[in-house]
Amino acid sequence: MHTAVAFDIYGTLIDTQAVLTRLSDLVGDKAPAVSQLWRQKQLEYSFRRGLMGDYCDFSVCTRQALLFACRQQQVEISAAAVEQAMQAYAELEAFADVAAGLESLQQQGIALYAFSNGSKAAVRHLLERAGIADYFTAVVSVEDVRSFKPAPKVYQHLLRSCGLPANGVYLVSSNPFDILGAAHAGLQTAWLRRDPQAIFDPWDVQPSILLDDFSDLARQLTAIN
Ligand code: LAC
Repeated sequence: MHTAVAFDIYGTLIDTQAVLTRLSDLVGDKAPAVSQLWRQKQLEYSFRRGLMGDYCDFSVCTRQALLFACRQQQVEISAAAVEQAMQAYAELEAFADVAAGLESLQQQGIALYAFSNGSKAAVRHLLERAGIADYFTAVVSVEDVRSFKPAPKVYQHLLRSCGLPANGVYLVSSNPFDILGAAHAGLQTAWLRRDPQAIFDPWDVQPSILLDDFSDLARQLTAIN
């Protein structure tokens, strides 16, 4: 089978909502609102910086988004608490189904890639902490092309890293904007619906595969190939 599978990291393999527990200690009962706005703003900042051609490490988007979310929610956050929240973000855990899902794909001889807005160092750290780093052939980061998803050049960078044509590479992501970006660049796509309430943007583009369960990916890829 001449296929590679690349995985989005934050929200797909790594559970960003898990930072909620740490945030509750730091900002009290506004933690759910801060956490949701934090993630939303983090992505918005990356989109804006991509459009402006003003690349920075993704952790800068993360940090600035946290400050925005706290201000909008009228939460006072000390410099020390910001550091603690950033530390929690750097140590997020993988979703419970990830290791078994990667194992079955590896057993099928599929090359696996991690593909993220995050820096290689940040992503490697997360994968190592989660005990899943060895499943991956490589960590591919947007940092090499100094832009952010969904700029076409970041998906082209992924394809070059895989050494395969676009139709031989699947991007698995829970983020609809990432799926649309990958499809636009010609990749095959698998939308992992981590949140049953999630809405796929009505852009008249469908993911190649819809997954309600990570463990279903290996089966669906076998059926297709
Ligand atoms: C990533 C973000 C988009 O890991 O989730 O690239």
